[in-house]
Amino acid sequence: RKKAVEGPLVGAVVQGTGSSSFLVFNLKTAELLTRYQVELTQDFPQEGWVEQDPKEILQSVYECIERTCEKLDELNIDISNIKAIGVSNQRETTIVWDKLTGEPLYNAVVWLDLRTQATVEKLSKKIPGNSNFVKSKTGLPLSTYFSAVKLRWMLDNVRKVQKAVEDGRALFGTIDSWLIWSLTGGVNGGVHYTDVTNASRTMLFNIHSLEWDKDLCDFFEIPMDILPKVLSSSEIYGQMKSGSLEGVLISGCLGDQSAALIGQMCFQEGQAKNTYGTGCFLLCNTGRKCVFSEHGLLTTVAYKLGKNKPVVYALEGSVAIAGAVVHWLKDNLGILETPEEIETLAKEVGTSYGCYFIPAFSGLYAPYWEPSARGIICGLTQFTNKCHIAFAALEAICFQTREILDAMNRDCGIPFNQLQVDGIMTNNKILMQLQADILHIPVVKPSITETTALGVAMAAGSAEGVGIWSFENDNLSNIMGERFEPQIKATESEIRYVTWKKAVMKSMGWVT
Ligand code: G3P
Repeated sequence: RKKAVEGPLVGAVVQGTGSSSFLVFNLKTAELLTRYQVELTQDFPQEGWVEQDPKEILQSVYECIERTCEKLDELNIDISNIKAIGVSNQRETTIVWDKLTGEPLYNAVVWLDLRTQATVEKLSKKIPGNSNFVKSKTGLPLSTYFSAVKLRWMLDNVRKVQKAVEDGRALFGTIDSWLIWSLTGGVNGGVHYTDVTNASRTMLFNIHSLEWDKDLCDFFEIPMDILPKVLSSSEIYGQMKSGSLEGVLISGCLGDQSAALIGQMCFQEGQAKNTYGTGCFLLCNTGRKCVFSEHGLLTTVAYKLGKNKPVVYALEGSVAIAGAVVHWLKDNLGILETPEEIETLAKEVGTSYGCYFIPAFSGLYAPYWEPSARGIICGLTQFTNKCHIAFAALEAICFQTREILDAMNRDCGIPFNQLQVDGIMTNNKILMQLQADILHIPVVKPSITETTALGVAMAAGSAEGVGIWSFENDNLSNIMGERFEPQIKATESEIRYVTWKKAVMKSMGWVT
């Protein structure tokens, strides 16, 4: 006999750059029941190119769902208690597939990919007199980061994509669309949808009207009939078509950073969170106002929790390389056996000994938006060893966050008095302490650290017609898990920050 669980359960797909996972929550009791995770490969076929296999991504999600169901079974929990599923995903990564065969027509071009630098330069010259044309509609700077230029590149360079567009067989989507189309049946009636948060990262979506923008599509020469229909982040998208959860509703969809903002309960204007994943993303809720940054931040859709619910915006500081630098030290330099080992190495020395590491592998994102930057390690002496470099890599993540927080403070006018953090890297205590030291404000970790999954589970569980849980409940209110107080003098963190900025300047202009 299966154990009776208190109330219906919600599943959350978390499809990130480095891994996919599936987690099951009981929202009423604020419990994470179980989870399963699969690591993913990334291909780097040329310098600056980053690709992933859409089928591997999809397969990993199916595997996570099935293994999680097995784990629930072992826990004696009936999987038929799962009544809704939410999908959260790495944003911007671009896929084009054939709607008749279900085959992807090219690898997924990942958000970090730099191949579109020439496309971006060409397009910048095309911007009519008004240089704010793209930014005023999308909240985004014209950059290699966003989907429109990746899609433009595919249309220019991949014959299969061109042909499928000509034949009316092509569908475009970010990872959420690809997954939801496949999970709801693919060639057998899969729905081609996305949500407002993912759409807002394509550079084709008007964040004021919340529609695909004809002028932008003309500018990027993107056929509008290949774009998915845009829904709110919390409504019924469709049903699972196969597997152990066949028939379960998919009723939530959010870009991973929006999901984390919700999971951190940042519902009030001025509340912010920083998530440490492959990159690092600091989002600040700006309410119903679309705030445009003067200091290199993005304006983005934070969430819209229901068809008839208001849209909420955020200011975002995006850092391309955070956790990715740890994987680089492991895979490319071989100085770590496991990503976790970086903490041991850094702890051994407790200082970078004057070494600074600018991990500008994909140029620099916020606040610089400088595609010509490349990674540098400087300040080396004969004394420097791998432990100092490991320490400098962790410091780099913290300094990049400080640059974002400074920009955010300048844009919002009210300095933050603490930073809410989440993401896998927040398990690294040295990193968290360094972050508090470098920002010189406390860093606060919530008790439920799976914020991305929790956020999208909340969206799925509260959708109209699902009604498992409601945002009016405050049973999930964010309980502080751990707090890191600054332990060095403000003047010391200032001196280190100034040197960091000097090093950043040296990383610029490597590619012309
Ligand atoms: O914008 C890219 C972001 O959504 C990727 O997130 O978790 O893979 O670092 P993550």
